[in-house]
Amino acid sequence: MTPSIDPRKIRRDVLKWYDKYGRDLPWRKKGEDKPDPYHIWLAEIMGQQTTLQALIPYYLKFIEKWPTVHNLADALQEDILHEWAGLGYYARARNLHKCAKIVSHELKGEFPKTQKGLMSLPGVGEYSSSAMAAILYSESVPVIDGNVERVGARVFAVEAPLPKGKPEIKKHSAMLYERSTNRPGDYAQALMDLGAMVCTPKSPKCGICPISDQCLAFKKGIAAELPKREPKKARPKRYGGFYWITNEHGAVLFERRAENRMLGGMLGLPTTDWDDKTSTAKTPDGLKSVEKLSENHVVHHTFSHFDLELQGYRASYNPDSDRFEWIEPAKLNDLGLPSLFKKAVKMMTK
Ligand code: ADE
Repeated sequence: MTPSIDPRKIRRDVLKWYDKYGRDLPWRKKGEDKPDPYHIWLAEIMGQQTTLQALIPYYLKFIEKWPTVHNLADALQEDILHEWAGLGYYARARNLHKCAKIVSHELKGEFPKTQKGLMSLPGVGEYSSSAMAAILYSESVPVIDGNVERVGARVFAVEAPLPKGKPEIKKHSAMLYERSTNRPGDYAQALMDLGAMVCTPKSPKCGICPISDQCLAFKKGIAAELPKREPKKARPKRYGGFYWITNEHGAVLFERRAENRMLGGMLGLPTTDWDDKTSTAKTPDGLKSVEKLSENHVVHHTFSHFDLELQGYRASYNPDSDRFEWIEPAKLNDLGLPSLFKKAVKMMTK
């Protein structure tokens, strides 16, 4: 343990700050009220995708449409993916559905009551199981998300650069939870809020931080530089084509993407496979008379591990598969499309 840092004092100061400034969130209960496991689970799974502010409308829509885990279990996967659109990582939405089915059909609607038990559920990893166990069942486990990692890296002035330095940073972040027994759920949420609101990635607000007196990086004047990051490698790029196919009524042809493809299970414009070279991709079966559009009809999109460039084509269509469906122009904006295809539709209809 680093001698000058007392996790108990950090805990006291952070909780005091949280009681005054912690965020009001639709699923969060302050004081004696017990949070609902279904609500916390949903929020924590969605929270892995985006900032809490951005997920609130998604969360509210989900609980309005599917008020209980049983309702979600019985929903059509297609409808869940539709409401998830825009959050990214559709595998998470599929796991969400799988998990709801297990909790509803096999566990009588009750989520497991320990971190280990929660972690056995599909899509519930180390972070979300720990957050749920701490918040719902007051289990004393370290809850370490990106915000807490940043707080830990700064409090203990860990200079090892990410990504290699991650284990070192996590080890120190866990030390923030040492000897912590009271209010585990509030403390975890307090550290996450502190990271999101005060100990921010850029320009941390050390002047209003309740624990700057205990922060080694602050004392050394290097808080804003931590955590360090190795220079980023160039992101790989992939290429392919998308097809804009219309019929005599102006309806547009879409395909339900096969489960084993990127954005599997989602509705999208027909595309080639995506490849690391330009123009090697094969035209999908069933499309013919393909005409390449001008270079103004290229869509760029960033996924977590690569950048994608899709060239637009016109084509005609030989109906051969129930993967394809015609969508009327009036419905184009309400399909719950992944962002990539929203961009392509916008480009083609403006
Ligand atoms: N980030 C993810 N879940 C959170 C929570 N419950 N409180 C604060 N930040 C979070």
